[in-house]
Formats: sequence, structure tokens, C-alpha cells
Amino acid sequence: MSKKIVVITGSPRKNGNSFAMTDSFIRAAEQKGHSVTRFDAAMMQIGGCHACETCFKTGKACSFDDDFNQIAPAILEADVLVFTMPVYWYSIPAQIKGVIDRIYSLVVGGKDIAGKECALIACCEEADLSVLDGVRIPMERTAALNKWTMVGEVLVPGVLNPGDIDKTDGCRQAAALANKI
Ligand SMILES: Cc1cc2nc3c(=O)[nH]c(=O)nc-3n(C[C@H](O)[C@H](O)[C@H](O)COP(=O)(O)O)c2cc1C
Repeated sequence: MSKKIVVITGSPRKNGNSFAMTDSFIRAAEQKGHSVTRFDAAMMQIGGCHACETCFKTGKACSFDDDFNQIAPAILEADVLVFTMPVYWYSIPAQIKGVIDRIYSLVVGGKDIAGKECALIACCEEADLSVLDGVRIPMERTAALNKWTMVGEVLVPGVLNPGDIDKTDGCRQAAALANKI
């Protein structure tokens, strides 16, 4: 069955490791007949949540009308959400954290976002897989709270510079993730 997949990236490096995995995933997902819409959060203007709780009161998801309001309708329509990012300081990069925080607007706005599938593609410099806990655990808990099914995680430690991902099987794993959707 063809599904609507929304991919949200968090790296500012277009030639970087998480983008390479993202590209592999998207190619494989499109080959399987899924439709993919991609948002590169680091190339968009997206701030954090103001916790004003006026979500959808202006007709848009967020009253602070930046580029998140382009992503919100796509999230609402999506069957599958795929988040891709590097680890920054043992955590989620600010560029994509703004998007994740503002998914709050869909919850406060009473939108039905339950039942989606979700996946995570992430990488970091250090060789220790537990460094990726800083993105894995919050994404798993976010998925669970929103009643999304986490269908797959590609977690690749030990990559620092652009191109390092090619010394791992990260892109192959990212392509294989498309088989889980
Ligand atoms: C601001 C910043 C913070 C980082 N913090 C960490 C970290 O805490 N742990 C780690 O292993 N790597 C850290 N890194 C390294 C990146 O995770 C690593 O270079 C990754 O491959 C970048 O992915 P990208 O090429 O997709 O941007 C950091 C990089 C930057 C720029």
C-alpha cells in the first residue's frame, strides 16, 4: 500500500552523514511506491514553542507564523513521519527540536495525530552507541505519547565528517528501513 511519508531532517550539512542516509531512505521509499515530502528544518525559519496555547486560534497550527506552519498540514496528512538528525551535545539539534516542540500545537489544537508510523535516522561522532540515547529516547517517548508506532531506527555512531557514513552500512540500513513501512 502506498503511504504518505513526511521526512523531517535536522542537519544543516547538505553533504553530511544524516542527509546521505536520508537520501538513501527516500530513494528506497519512492521505489516502493510511497510518496515522500521532505522538509529540511535547518534551512527553514522555525523557532521554539511559546507555550501560548493559542494553537489553531488564528486558523494556522501556530500563532507564531513561521515555517513550522508549512510542515504542520503535512504532518496532519502523513501516514508516516521520519525524523533524521545528528546528535548535538548528547541531544536533539535545535534546528529540528523546534519542529518537534511545536507538534504540541497539534495536540493542544485537538487534532487526531494518533496511529501514524514513525522512524528515526540518526548519527554521531563518538563510537559509543549510547550517545544516540539522547535522540533515541525522546523520540521513542514522543512517539509513544502521540500513539505513533516506532517502526524502525537507524542509529549510526562513529561518523564525524561528511562522507564518513560511506565507511559504515548506514545508507544501506536507511534504505532497508523503507521495507518496514
Ligand atoms: C554543535 C555540534 C555538537 C555535536 N555534539 C556531538 C555529541 O554530543 N556527540 C557526538 O558523538 N557527536 C557530536 N557532534 C558530531 C556530529 O553528531 C557528527 O559530526 C555527525 O556525523 C553530524 O551529522 P551530519 O553530517 O548529518 O550533520 C556534534 C556536532 C556539532 C556540530
